[in-house]
Amino acid sequence: MIISNTTISRENLKADADEVKNLGAGGLSGKPLQSRSTEIIRYLTQSKKVKFDIIGVGGIHSASDAIEKIEAGAKLVQLFTGFIYEGPGLVKKINRAMIKK
Ligand SMILES: Cc1cc2nc3c(=O)[nH]c(=O)nc-3n(C[C@H](O)[C@H](O)[C@H](O)COP(=O)(O)O)c2cc1C
Repeated sequence: MIISNTTISRENLKADADEVKNLGAGGLSGKPLQSRSTEIIRYLTQSKKVKFDIIGVGGIHSASDAIEKIEAGAKLVQLFTGFIYEGPGLVKKINRAMIKK
């Protein structure tokens, strides 16, 4: 099971609130989603509600972000926004950090 998709929350954004409002509805990905997605992974892992392995996704922009998802209970991680902003080298950085864990 892949957790999570984007968020409709507009909390903790640096951008001007009116500017954000004018952009309209839609899901946010990347950094604004990171801690919320990790929280959900941790909750579902601890509650044992999910019988499938969890693929952690949401705001992974560094090796430590990926490790955060694994430590919360994910078996694998997925990159989307981080891959665009940090580039494909992020995958190598994550793999190297995981090997050392
Ligand atoms: C441009 C874009 C398109 C996406 N399309 C889909 C989709 O078709 N199906 C889906 O389940 N998730 C889709 N997602 C959600 C991502 O798979 C992922 O759950 C989400 O972006 C959070 O990860 P991230 O912070 O690494 O982007 C999309 C995300 C983005 C940014």
